[in-house]
Amino acid sequence: MKDIIEKLKNEGQEHLLPILNDLSEEDRNYLVSQLKSIDWNSLKLWKNPEDLSGKGKVQPIKGLSLNDIQNQSDMYMQIGKEAIKNGKVGAVLLAGGQGTRLGSDAPKGTYDIGLTKPLYIFEQLISNLLNVCKKCDTFVPLFIMTSEKNDKDTKDFFEQHNYFGYPKSHVRFFVQEMAPSVDFNGKLLLEEKAKLALSPNGNGGWYSSLENADVLKDFPELEWLNVFAVDNVLQRIADPIFIGATIASGLNSGAKVVRKCSPSERVGVLCLEDGLPSVIEYYELTDEMANQIGDDGNLAYSFGVILNYLFNLPKLREIASERIPVHIVKKKIPHLDDNGNLVKPEQENGYKFETLILDMIKLMGSCLPFEVEREKEFAPIKNKTGVDSVESARELLKKNGINL
Ligand code: UTP
Repeated sequence: MKDIIEKLKNEGQEHLLPILNDLSEEDRNYLVSQLKSIDWNSLKLWKNPEDLSGKGKVQPIKGLSLNDIQNQSDMYMQIGKEAIKNGKVGAVLLAGGQGTRLGSDAPKGTYDIGLTKPLYIFEQLISNLLNVCKKCDTFVPLFIMTSEKNDKDTKDFFEQHNYFGYPKSHVRFFVQEMAPSVDFNGKLLLEEKAKLALSPNGNGGWYSSLENADVLKDFPELEWLNVFAVDNVLQRIADPIFIGATIASGLNSGAKVVRKCSPSERVGVLCLEDGLPSVIEYYELTDEMANQIGDDGNLAYSFGVILNYLFNLPKLREIASERIPVHIVKKKIPHLDDNGNLVKPEQENGYKFETLILDMIKLMGSCLPFEVEREKEFAPIKNKTGVDSVESARELLKKNGINL
């Protein structure tokens, strides 16, 4: 107890001392155990964020255009199907996020996007995966990442809906780690009297959490993991052509990309940084770079990432101990106010600490950009209305012949 009191004083968290004093022994022990597991070095970053802006030498990256893919599609399909049939490919659904922009407390995948009948996001994703399974006459192991906040609800939902026809034997859930949140002055926030306000630690933690859960061993043939976001309902999962192309390229990873629709589109682009593949944010591109035209007549920096990556598992194991940068993200964080009342803020009120999957691409050492048609494969649901919303995704689903 003495240690933790000293620590709180040294770390500028004295506001928690009277709270600790006020708690029953059981509650105090719980809060102390939470405080003991804090990575204080990351927490300090709110004041002096890691310098993530210092980019190396940025250059365009070569990738496969729609045309290139079309020309070799039979070969890629064959290689991809073979890998899937041989159990070499697993799918990882990232569903640990809180979907705060959508504004629902339930797991995002349980959101009903149907019009004349229920159609849940999870259901649509499973249906997309089942299409591939049918083609390959086998089931792809599916790993679903949840967080402490939504693990039970997610599992219950899958049970209630009988896994939407997917065999339970091929599904494994794993829980990502949590990180504390602070207010704009770096003070740790509480969500209950004896409980820190914790939130999922970002989608960059997926691989370490997956290994910690020790579920990969159930599928010993695995060599590739296709990782994707919960919110793109047109997502093609374990797409044999993408898998075949990445394997044929001999590279360590692949990324599905869409062409930017304008130089100023706000999307992260895949490029080379000091010779390594890297995703850079739209605001990190100078005007000149954003407008630069490449040899093929397209924008030189035009590969927008859509959070659908293929990772080589042996390579992931090799880079497992490398550090991945921590991003400090402003968010609306429910917390107890000074009077002990729970506040659900309308505005951003503090920082969360997250690692991002896109930072793993550089660590992988090589990556194949694989172009896909936006209208056919990219319908993200981030917001309730407007851009990247339930409404826009519904329109795109309809265009692709999906009955709502
Ligand atoms: P987003 O960046 O859209 O974050 O996640 P979010 O938390 O879902 O939504 P907002 O920003 O609060 O509205 C992109 C993908 O990464 C997953 C999400 O579930 C989604 O599939 N993710 C995000 C995690 O699995 N864990 C996290 O900690 C964060």
